[in-house]
Amino acid sequence: MCGIIGFTGYERAKDVLLAGLASLEYRGYDSAGISCFTKDKGITTIKSVGKVSELKALVPEDLASTCGIGHTRWATHGGVSRENAHPHTCGNVTLIHNGIIENYLSLRDELSTTGRSPVSDTDSEIAAMLIDSLYTGDAHTAIAAAVTRLEGAYAFCILFADQPDKIYCIRKGSPLVACQTEMGSIIASDMVALLRYSKDYFVLEENVIACLTRDAIEVTTLEGKVLASDYLTVTWDVSSAQKNGFKHYMEKEIHEQPDALLRTITPRLVKYSESGEFYMLPDFTADGIPDTLFLGLTRIIITACGTAMHAGMMGKILFEEFLRIPVTVDIASEFRYQNPILDANTLVITVSQSGETADTLAALRLARSKGARTLSIVNVKGSSIARESEYVFYTHAGPEIAVASTKAYTAQLAAFYLIAFRSAFACGRMPIEQCAKYTEDLSSVVLSIERVLERRDEFKTISRHLIKASDLFFIGRGMDYALSCEGSIKLKEITYIHSESYAAGELKHGTLSLIAPDVPVIALATQHDVLAKMVSNIKEVRARGAFVILVTAKDAVIEPELYDFRIDLPETSDRFAPFTAAVVLQLIAYNTSYLRGLDVDQPRHLAKSVTVE
Ligand code: F6R
Repeated sequence: MCGIIGFTGYERAKDVLLAGLASLEYRGYDSAGISCFTKDKGITTIKSVGKVSELKALVPEDLASTCGIGHTRWATHGGVSRENAHPHTCGNVTLIHNGIIENYLSLRDELSTTGRSPVSDTDSEIAAMLIDSLYTGDAHTAIAAAVTRLEGAYAFCILFADQPDKIYCIRKGSPLVACQTEMGSIIASDMVALLRYSKDYFVLEENVIACLTRDAIEVTTLEGKVLASDYLTVTWDVSSAQKNGFKHYMEKEIHEQPDALLRTITPRLVKYSESGEFYMLPDFTADGIPDTLFLGLTRIIITACGTAMHAGMMGKILFEEFLRIPVTVDIASEFRYQNPILDANTLVITVSQSGETADTLAALRLARSKGARTLSIVNVKGSSIARESEYVFYTHAGPEIAVASTKAYTAQLAAFYLIAFRSAFACGRMPIEQCAKYTEDLSSVVLSIERVLERRDEFKTISRHLIKASDLFFIGRGMDYALSCEGSIKLKEITYIHSESYAAGELKHGTLSLIAPDVPVIALATQHDVLAKMVSNIKEVRARGAFVILVTAKDAVIEPELYDFRIDLPETSDRFAPFTAAVVLQLIAYNTSYLRGLDVDQPRHLAKSVTVE
C-alpha cells in the first residue's frame, strides 16, 4: 500500500522516480508526488491528484536533479487531494510515508504548541512536523528520537533541506528494499521498482536508519552502529514485471499460471525408492522444511486475508482429508484479536502473496509469541512474513502486479496440495503409492490449465451476459464452495458488480429470497460426490428464474433446462478441479471488467499489498 521510491546518484532523478512510481502504482493510485533537490532552488515538490501519468505531465522535462523521493498514495487519513498527496514538508524536512501513524492526533496537538500546524489531513505530515521539531542539524539523532514517539507502522524516505543529495530512510511494519548500483543508490517499497537497475537487493531491517548517498548506502542502528546488509537475488527479469503484449497485467498473469505452477511444483519433486520401485514425491528438504514439523500436531490453523485466505480454505479440506487433523481457517484481522488457543502442537500456516500484509504479519507474530509452530506460504522473497516465519514455503509465481490476485492464488493452492501430500505421507497417513499418484495428478493440472486458456474466447460470451448485472451469486459445495468464495471476490473487486458466494445448501436458509428472475448464479458443480445435492440446489435457483452458468465436469449428467451456459472442465479427478475452475472464473471476471470499460489492473479504492490494518 502506497508506493515509495528514493534515488540519489548520477542519473536524472525525475526519470528514475517516475519510472519507479509507474511500476509501484499498483500499491496505490489516488495521487502521486515527487520532491527533488535542485541546484539553487533547494527542494522542488510536484504533486497531483490521480495517477502517475498525471503527475508526469506536470514534471518539467528539464528538472535538473539527481536526488529525490517519490510517492504514489492509497489514502488512509484524509481524502484524495493535492494537499494530502505526498511528499509533505515541514521546515527542513520533506518526507514520504507508507503506513499509519496511530498517535498522530496527540502528536499534532503537542506540536501545535511549537508553532507548527499541518496543511493536510494526513498522519504523515505530523511525522514530518515531529522530525523537524527534533532536527538541529543531525538527521540521525532527529530520526532516532522521532521514532521513539511514533506509534503505528511506517516506511519513511526523508530529505533534509540542508543536506543535499542525501536520503534518510527508516521503517517499521512497512517494507523497504534497497540496492546500490553504478548509477546510484535506490530504495523502494518493492523490488519491482529496482528490477530495471539490479537483481540484487537487500531488505532494510526494521528500526535501523539507512542513509543513501550517490556511492553508498550506510545502514546504522538507532545508536549509530554501522551494520552490514545481506543482499538477496531475484530470479525475475524486467520483462516478468511488464505486460509483454497483453492488454493488462491481470490477463498476462492469468496466462502465466502454467509456468507459475511448474516453477512451484517441479523443484519440490524428488525421486524416492522403496522395495525396488521409484516414486516421485513432494520433498521440502531444499526449502529447509523438515518432516518433523508435521509430526505430533494436534491442530492446524490457517490464517490469511482475501484471496490468500480462500486458498487456505482449500488447504483445510486437503489437510482434513489426508492428514486427518482438525483445521480452522481464520481471517487474519480477526484471528489476532480473538485470543486464539495455541500451543507447541499447533501449526499456524500464514499465506500471503506479498508477504507484507499487516494483519497476516501480526497473526504470525502472535502465533510465534504463543509458542505455535509456524509455516508461511509466501510469494515475495525476503518479505516480512517470510523472514519472521519459522519455516517458509515460497511459491514461485513471479511478480504479481495486477491488484486482483490470480497466479499467486493457484500457486498457493499448489503449495497446499504439496504440503498436504507430504505431511500425510510423513505422518504415515498416506501410502507412498498414493502420494506418488496424487503428486503426478497435481503435476498434470498444468496441462489442464493450458487447455482452459486455449478456450478463453468461449468465456467472453458469458461476460457479455454479466455486464448489465447488478447482483450475482456463486454457489458450490465442499471444494466448490471454497472456490466460489474466490470466484466472487475476483468478480466483485474488478467489475464492481455486487456478488456473494454461498455454500449451495445454505441458500434456502435466507439467501434464496434474493434470487429474482435473471439474477446470474454461477453454479460450481465439479465434485461428483455431491453432484446430486448440487443439482437440487441449482433446481431451487432455477425455479426462481435465475440465469444459471454451470461450471462442471464433462461427464456430469445435468438436465439442460437447468442452465443457460455450461462450461465443461478438462478431465481431471475432482480433487484437482479447483485449478481449472479457478482459471475459468478468473477469465470471466477479467472479461466482464474489461467489457464494462473498467480499470482492470487498478480497481477503485483498492491497492496491492495491504500494509495497513
Ligand atoms: C484479491 C486480493 C486480495 C489479497 C489480500 C492478501 O484479488 O488480491 O484479497 O489476496 O489482500 O494479500 P497477500 O496475499 O499479499 O497477503
